[in-house]
Amino acid sequence: MKEHLDKFIHYCLYLYHEPVAELAELLVRITPGNYEKKVVIGLSGGDANDTALKAALMFTRRPNIASFTYSYHGTTALGVAVSGSFSPELRNAIPLHGVYFLEYPDTYRCAEGIEDPDECGEYYLSKIEKFFRRNVAGESFAALIIEPVQGDGGVLIPPENFMRGIRKITKEYGMILIDDEVQTGMGRTGKLFAIEHYNIVPDLVVLGKALGGGMPVSAVVGRKDVLESAPPQTFFATSAAHATSVVGSIAAVKYVLENNLADRAQYLGSYALRRLNELKEKYEVVGDVRGVGLMLGVDIVKSKKTKEPDRITALKIIWRAWEKGLVMMTYGKYGNVLRIAPPLTISEEDLENGFEIIEDSIRDVIRGVVPDEVIKYMAAWE
Ligand SMILES: Cc1ncc(COP(=O)(O)O)c(C=O)c1O
Repeated sequence: MKEHLDKFIHYCLYLYHEPVAELAELLVRITPGNYEKKVVIGLSGGDANDTALKAALMFTRRPNIASFTYSYHGTTALGVAVSGSFSPELRNAIPLHGVYFLEYPDTYRCAEGIEDPDECGEYYLSKIEKFFRRNVAGESFAALIIEPVQGDGGVLIPPENFMRGIRKITKEYGMILIDDEVQTGMGRTGKLFAIEHYNIVPDLVVLGKALGGGMPVSAVVGRKDVLESAPPQTFFATSAAHATSVVGSIAAVKYVLENNLADRAQYLGSYALRRLNELKEKYEVVGDVRGVGLMLGVDIVKSKKTKEPDRITALKIIWRAWEKGLVMMTYGKYGNVLRIAPPLTISEEDLENGFEIIEDSIRDVIRGVVPDEVIKYMAAWE
């Protein structure tokens, strides 16, 4: 990026520049699917999801969109409308019709007390099949947008049969399958793209966050015929595909590829899960630990038996961890999941230091070291 600054910062509007062509070629090559692709570069995960949805609506000329409960897709108007993690009051303030929320499988708290992940996947799949057959016709849906691992929902990892079933249903009804990899992409889950864990190929892949390596770069990569149906002027933004930022993105993508960071995430993630499972054995408040690669969650509960979420204890744990020098967040549909997503380049030593702080913090909170008053300082985590 430093070298590029001496050439030009950005040129927008009527001409392409070399960096954007190079990034597009790279993304076409590394994303799943051997069909003819196109790429649209944007500025944030949210605007890329907007582009993907817009293209699917224009391509199919159908009115409806399917999304999932507790999903998060961004803060554009369409992003808010399709994000199941926003309250219905907020979503309804944007009176877009035709967005339907399907239930995303939660194998830890599966409905009907189902314990087996495959059975859980099957259960939710059959509900979705019925929905498209009996409630709202599958043929009226332009797109189904899904996170291949739900992040803000609390690291929910859908069973393989569920994801394969979703691909089958979307094909059957001619819906565009939009794979939101903004959080899971670029190696985070131990594969370059999380959808690869299920051996399915989506129609559009949406990328953001790590794609830019710290710069504001997002992308939709996928079926040429779908993306061409939204003419360029409908997804143009003056600073999108910002040349200097795109140079940063190319460097980041190459770094991920050349240093096999997906494999590294897989390797460190297996160690992390083992370590987190030790915490689960030891502490009653650790109800479940979940993870794929370096996308990890610790579900804090009042009791292992009831699995009742304990958001206050989770908040106290991250408060204590912060006092000890480790920044963590909570997320999840009940706000009780410790979010662990270290950089894929983290050293083994730093990772272990992090786990030691997490364990100390859990112990301190159980001992009552952290007072209730701290909760009021954590408004941002609500
Ligand atoms: C799965 C997912 N999609 C979309 C977004 C929105 O991305 P951005 O904040 O860059 O608009 C996020 C951000 O957290 C996300 O996790």
